[in-house]
Amino acid sequence: MVSETDFSRQPVGVFDSGVGGLSVLRELLHVLPQEDMVYLADTAWAPYGERSTDEIQSRSFAIADYLVERYHIKALVVACNTATAQAAQELRLRYPTLPLIGIEPAIKPAAALTRTGHIGIMATHGTVASSKFQQLLHTWRGEHDVRVQACNGLALAIENALDGPAGLALVQQLCATYVQALEPFVGQDPVQGIDTLALGCTHYPFAARTLQKLVGPDVTLIDPGESVALQTRRLLEKTRLTLPEPDSGHQRQLSWLCTAAPERLALAADKWLGIHEARVEQVQF
Ligand code: DGL
Repeated sequence: MVSETDFSRQPVGVFDSGVGGLSVLRELLHVLPQEDMVYLADTAWAPYGERSTDEIQSRSFAIADYLVERYHIKALVVACNTATAQAAQELRLRYPTLPLIGIEPAIKPAAALTRTGHIGIMATHGTVASSKFQQLLHTWRGEHDVRVQACNGLALAIENALDGPAGLALVQQLCATYVQALEPFVGQDPVQGIDTLALGCTHYPFAARTLQKLVGPDVTLIDPGESVALQTRRLLEKTRLTLPEPDSGHQRQLSWLCTAAPERLALAADKWLGIHEARVEQVQF
């Protein structure tokens, strides 16, 4: 049991279907430099983007239950657009007192930034098909031209690309196909073309360089990772769950969990976050 007073010392839980959530974790580590965190990659069930709502909800419940029971997490960051779209509301009902932070495609920031009024969104099929996303789209479509592309296979290809250069070729090929479908005249028509592209899947920031090359330098890519981290900090402050006395000597603890392929998560942590030799534990539930 964890007493009330000690609860603020508990870790923040973060999960995704795989390594994509590291794009959010990277910002969380920056914005909350002393908080302990536990990252869980549900790699055995990835990708979520092409799974049913029932499956995504039951995996999200299993993960939250596991993190609450084993780590007594003080907050949960759903570092996955698909799981947020399909399961965040249900998670809130299951854990009404647990601060929960989700992520959604950044249409609002894109709308604030666009000059042409043409906005692109790339996301998984699961996110695009969700009623949560459709509602969000409905809110903004009246004012702006929002072009949406479901990118089947791209998150998985980004995961697989960690294993070698052959995977990278598929990432490039899929990015080219989806950018072309989203915007056939990208970079050629500054008036009719999109000038902002929201990355609606936490895996996609790890293909940002490829995407930027395809859309050209005048299109702004939006990764909502930092906003999610700032929102997490705000919520911890509001619920008085930040560490009681931040002290410079405190060595934060990072725990790494996955349901398959532990070496891949360790490799991603090394390559993308500069965290060497992460000790990843493979868990089953
Ligand atoms: N990274 C996740 C997202 O933000 C899920 C990708 C997937 O597993 O399909 O949607």
